[in-house]
Parts: sequence; structure tokens; C-alpha cells
Amino acid sequence: MDVSTEGSKIKALVLAGGTGSRLRPITYTSAKQLVPIANKPILFYGLESIANSGVTEVGVIVGDTRAEVMEALGDGSRFGLKITYIPQDKPLGLAHCVVIAQDFLGDDDFVMYLGDNFILSGIDDFVQAFRDRTDGTCAQILLARVPDPQRFGVAELDEFGRVLRLVEKPPVPPSDLALVGVYLFDKSIHDAVRSIYPSARNELEITDAIDYLITQGRRVESRIVEGYWKDLGEPEALLEGNRLALEMIAPMISGTVDSSSRIEGRVVIELGAQVRSSLVRGPAIIGAGAVIEESFVGPYTAIGQGCVITRSEVENSIILNESRVSDIVRMEGSIIGKRAVVGQRRSLPSASRLVIGDNSTVEFHRG
Ligand code: G1P
Repeated sequence: MDVSTEGSKIKALVLAGGTGSRLRPITYTSAKQLVPIANKPILFYGLESIANSGVTEVGVIVGDTRAEVMEALGDGSRFGLKITYIPQDKPLGLAHCVVIAQDFLGDDDFVMYLGDNFILSGIDDFVQAFRDRTDGTCAQILLARVPDPQRFGVAELDEFGRVLRLVEKPPVPPSDLALVGVYLFDKSIHDAVRSIYPSARNELEITDAIDYLITQGRRVESRIVEGYWKDLGEPEALLEGNRLALEMIAPMISGTVDSSSRIEGRVVIELGAQVRSSLVRGPAIIGAGAVIEESFVGPYTAIGQGCVITRSEVENSIILNESRVSDIVRMEGSIIGKRAVVGQRRSLPSASRLVIGDNSTVEFHRG
């Protein structure tokens, strides 16, 4: 056991490469980690959690969407962080990210954070427990009970809660305990990521690297996440994350609300937004410069900056910046990308007219 590194500085390695195929078409034009929930990019919640845990030096792995990610995060100072960007040319796996980050990480302990993971309670306790360890633990993983473990890395524990084995996306899962995308490591992970082979999906799996540590007799601790955790990589999860994030927003009206409008519950109306002859029922957020007119914005809705919603009812939805929705009664459980136009046409022929991007989903309600 190498006690000399315990309790020393902890860095963070944040993964913001990934292609976001399950969130297409939104991710054709946006990095999946920058898709907003409650009008804030998913990745910002993770970086705020990292900053709150006392970590300041962060390496961010970037892929094809690097320009957008770098523009959004800058040097990290807005989060109180110092960011170093580490480019990954091909998505060769989470363990490969550790390989290419070795110069940045040196021999320091680090927390690895998958940029599309959303952990409501933050990571302070988890990071602190690793800082405080005195027992030679070389890795600490977070687990959550899920109904569909075959979609995740899965842990098998013994009767004392010790990790016996980890396996990536097993067709027959040994338990319902999924690996959450937040891990703590000491320097022994560097040897592990170099000792494993690519998986069936041709990636170097971090799950296999941690399993390697276990087979080498190293101590790997696990903790169960009691609060909400989700990987927001698909539409239903994104809407769920949006609902939870909206429940936490501090109500504030900075825009204008005319006298024939009503605001109910937890609502944020950002600067320059206008609400006219409308009802906004929270939890909801209306982005800067948006216009809501003769409309109902219902619970769990996030309307992006510069959107225009006219004579419509929108509920439990995410509408990204500068989109327009008119004469739609009623939109529910929807995700609308940037600068999209959704509306009704009054001219003949009375058929629907659609210009829809690749991999889009359009469902008309049949009454
Ligand atoms: C990755 C990991 C998996 C983990 C999951 C958490 O899966 O490989 O072990 O359970 O993140 O979000 P991926 O998103 O690459 O399918």
C-alpha cells in the first residue's frame, strides 16, 4: 500500500467526447453533454459538483464536438476550475481516456466523471470518503439499482458488500447494481488500463480495468447512490432530468409579465423574456428574450432563449434556443431542437407538411 499519495490532491477527468447517437437528431448539431436541462447544459451540473467537492484541476476529454465544448467551458474559471483539454481522436473507450490523460493526471488521485451523468446529490461525500481513506483502497465506484442492468457495467458483491467482479453490459446480469459514471482512482489505474484488451464493441472498458484491479487483489470499494442518478443519453431520461432540475430552480422573475398573465409555482423568467396573456405553471423556466403569447406553459417545461410560443400549450418538454411554436394544442413530452419551427398552417391543402431532419421522431395524436 502506498500511503504517501492518500489524502493528497485530487484532480478530475471529465469525459465530454462521446457521439450521443441515442439523442439524435439533437446531437447532430450539439454535443450531448451540452444539451440543456432547465436551460443549463448537462455538463455544467457535473462541473459544478466537481468544484463543490473541492477539486480545481480538471482535464476534459474532447472528441468531434471539441470546438463547441471548448467554447462553452472556456478555461473553466466560471466554475472556479482550471481546465486542460485532452483531445481524443477516436472514441476508443473510457479506459482509453485514462491512457491519453496520463500526462495530465501524473501520480495524483482523480475522480473520473462521465459528462452525460446527472447526480442530483452531487459527489462531495464520495470524493471526501476517498480523500479520508486509510485502508489502501485504490478505486472507489458508485453503484445504483436499475431495472435494466444489461445496459450498464454491473457489479457483483459478496455478502459484506465487497466487489467481487465487474462486467460490462452482461446479457445475463449478476445483479441489478449498475456502475454510475463517477469513479475515484489512485495511480494504480494507469497500469490497469494498459493491461486490458478491447471489448466486443472494440473499446477499452473502464469496467474491465477496475475488474483487473480486483483480480490483482487490490481493494476496490463501492457505495450505493441513494438519490437520483441518470445517464441522460436518451430522450426519456433527458425529460426526467429536466423535471428534476426544474424542481430545484430558485424562482425569479427578471423578464416582464403583463397584467393578463398568471405565473404559478416555481418559475424562472429570464431577463428580457416577455409573457403576454398567458399562464405559466411551474416548475418551468422561460429563457432570456423568449416571448410567450396567448399560451399555456405547463409544469416541467424549459423554454430556451429567444423562443417564441404563440397560441399553444406546452408541457413537460424541452425547447431549445430560438425555436418557434404556434397554434399547437397541446404539446407534451417533447424535445425540440434549436431554431425549429412547429406550427399549424391555415392555407389549403389541409395536409401536414414536414421538413424533418434525419433520425427525428414525430408522433401525431390520434384522438
Ligand atoms: C458507460 C460505462 C458503463 C456505465 C455507464 C454509466 O456506458 O461503460 O459501465 O454503467 O457508462 O453511464 P456507456 O455510456 O459507454 O454505454
